[in-house]
Formats: sequence, structure tokens, C-alpha cells
Amino acid sequence: MNPEGIGIIMIVDDEPAHIVAVKRSLLTAWPNVTLCTASSLQECREVVTASAPDIALIDLNLPDGRATEFLSSLPEAGRFPVIVMTSQGDEQAAVEALKAGAMDYVVKSSAAFADMSHVIDRVMHDWQARKDHLRGQQELFNSREQLRALAGRLQAVREEERKALAREIHDVLAQDLTCLKIDLAWLRGRLERPGAALTMETLIDRVVEMSDLADHAIHAVQHIATALRPAVLDSLGLFATVEWVARDFQGRNEIPVETSVDWDDLPVDPNVATALFRILQEGLTNVARHAGATRVHIVLRPDGDDLVLRILDNGDGIPLESLTHHESIGLAGMRERAHLLGGSCEICRGPDSGTLIEVRLPRGNRQEPLETTP
Ligand SMILES: Nc1ncnc2c1ncn2[C@@H]1O[C@H](COP(=O)(O)OP(=O)(O)OP(=O)(O)O)[C@@H](O)[C@H]1O
Ligand SMILES: [Mg+2]
Repeated sequence: MNPEGIGIIMIVDDEPAHIVAVKRSLLTAWPNVTLCTASSLQECREVVTASAPDIALIDLNLPDGRATEFLSSLPEAGRFPVIVMTSQGDEQAAVEALKAGAMDYVVKSSAAFADMSHVIDRVMHDWQARKDHLRGQQELFNSREQLRALAGRLQAVREEERKALAREIHDVLAQDLTCLKIDLAWLRGRLERPGAALTMETLIDRVVEMSDLADHAIHAVQHIATALRPAVLDSLGLFATVEWVARDFQGRNEIPVETSVDWDDLPVDPNVATALFRILQEGLTNVARHAGATRVHIVLRPDGDDLVLRILDNGDGIPLESLTHHESIGLAGMRERAHLLGGSCEICRGPDSGTLIEVRLPRGNRQEPLETTP
């Protein structure tokens, strides 16, 4: 059986006897391996293009150049491990080859040719370890980038929310209260001057206007409070909130929402309730913005010590590249909220169509959150 990861081995040497010796040794060890050969740098490049070898043994000195030239011309993406073969006394040059990217070198001799399969085994092992290390570093880099983007985005979202609330307080609430104050000043002026012409009808009209202003201000206060944190989450609990969010979404977007909420009376950690609420909000906002759905199904059910929330729409389905794209900050935020509380959040295409989000959180919050965003 071939060693792992090796189907094709390239042997490059201008001395036919050396090629024969290496071939014989490798075929004895791995009868099924494919060997391709070349006797010059030019030919070596052609073989690489035609056969894409998994590993190469290259004589250091070839008639038209040195193996180091070949190594430095290899593109990063198309790299494969290279073992350089040198003559006795050429070790200094072999060290140069290592610096140029060769994985190892062997000094040519009958014994070295006979042992070639072990050298290749060891080099492949090192090559795999190097690739794993690089992949790990890349993944670490990607997740750091994503975290940085997420932190920046959270900051921006908070600023936006604050701006929107400040605008609402200033433009609506302050406006209503100012009008109310003007009306009250008017009323006081009239009442302090009993001689002033004031019919009961005018008075009632003015009081009705003031009452409307007060209603408007109360509504604004309720809206601001709900945006900060829906009161229903604290007063009625998570299960009722999910029903409320579903009805609210259905009313505003005219997309029917079916809910299957399995109530129970056991307590839910407030951080867990907030996280599920925010994930549901983000998931539904995405449905309204991107899904093109005509139906949504929301499930909330206890499962042992966990709570499971599912949001399934029947829309176009999330593009697969969005699932891993570093700009999918909304999706990353949902996952991050779940992970911070010791749970999980899977986002994928739905079983038939659309998009499915499934969140599982321990209802008792196994982990202390580093920070909870209201
Ligand atoms: N339910 C869905 N159906 C179809 N596509 C979706 C759905 N949810 C998300 N997507 C796709 O995934 C992408 C990433 O979603 P994400 O919530 O991370 O970002 P966004 O909604 O575009 O912006 P924001 O950062 O404001 O949330 C969306 O741009 C959209 O293309
Ligand atoms: Mg979004």
C-alpha cells in the first residue's frame, strides 16, 4: 500500500543509473506508487505541470541548473515536499537548498538509495505536521479577525442604537413635553385672568389636545423602554416573549409565523433569556431582509437541562458562502452569544427549503458571560 498522501513521486537526476537505483528501491517498498522521472530542470518543470507529483527527489546539480533554482521558482500554493540528492562533499550546497525550501537532503550512495522510502516517510510526516501547523495558524488568524470585526460591529451597533434612542427622546418626547408645557402655560394664563374670554368648549378642546400629547409621550416612553429591553421578557418570561415577538413580526412584515412553544415553569437564567431573545430578533430581521419567505416556524422547547430555539423559514435559503464569510457579523453575533453562555448555534439550509437556525443553551447558564449586551 502507498504511504499516506503519496500517489506520484518524481525523481530528477541526470545520471540514469541513479534513477534506476531509486526506482527499484521505491517500488520494492511501495509496488503501487507511480514514479515519473526527469533528467534536467527544464524537464522537471514539464513533469510537474503534467503530473502534479506529491513529493520530489531532485539531484542538486543538473545539466541546466541547480535544484535551488527550481525550489525558489515554486509558487506557494503549488508547493510539495522536495528532497535534494547531493554528491559526497556537496553538503554546504545542500544546506543552501534547505534554506530555499527543501525538506531534507540525502548524500547519494547505494545505502541511501536503498533507504529512500524511510526518508520519504519521515519527510511526508514532517510536511503534514507543517501543513497542520500553518492551517491552525490561519484558523487562529481568521477567528481573531472575525472577533475584531465583531467587537467593532457591536460597538457601532450600540452607538447607532444610542443615537436612535437619543433622537427619539429629543424629537418625540421632548417635543411632546414642550408642547404640553406651552399648553399648560396658556391654561394657567387663562385661569389667572378670569376676565379673559374662555368658553368651556375652547377649554375642553385644549385639554383634549393636551391629553393626546400625553398619550403620545407615554407611547414614546414605552417604545424606548421596549427597544432597551422588552418589558415582557421580565414580566411574562421568555416563553411569552417568543410568542409576542412572533406576533409583532407577523404584524409588521405580513409574513405568517407559526409558533410551537412548549411552556414549562422552571426558571430561565436572565442572560440566557436575553441571548435567546436577541438571537430570535436577529434571525427574524434576517428573514425579513434576505429570505424572501412566505412562512416562518419558531419552536422553543426544553430539552433536559437545555432550551432549544429553532427558527425555520421557507425562503431562498442562506447562500453557503455567507455562513463562513467574515462579513456575516449578524450570524457571528448569534453564534458568539450562544458560545458565551456555553451553548451552540447552528445555521444551515432548511431540510426542504429556506434557512434553519437552531440554538441550544443551558437554561441555567453553565458559563459566566464575559459581557452581556442587553
Ligand atoms: N434567513 C435567511 N435567508 C437567506 N439568506 C440569509 C438569511 N439570513 C442571513 N442570510 C444571508 O447571510 C448574510 C449574512 O447575514 P448577517 O445577519 O450576518 O448580515 P446582514 O443581515 O447582511 O447584515 P447585519 O450585519 O445588519 O445583520 C446576509 O447578508 C444574507 O445574504
Ligand atoms: Mg443580519
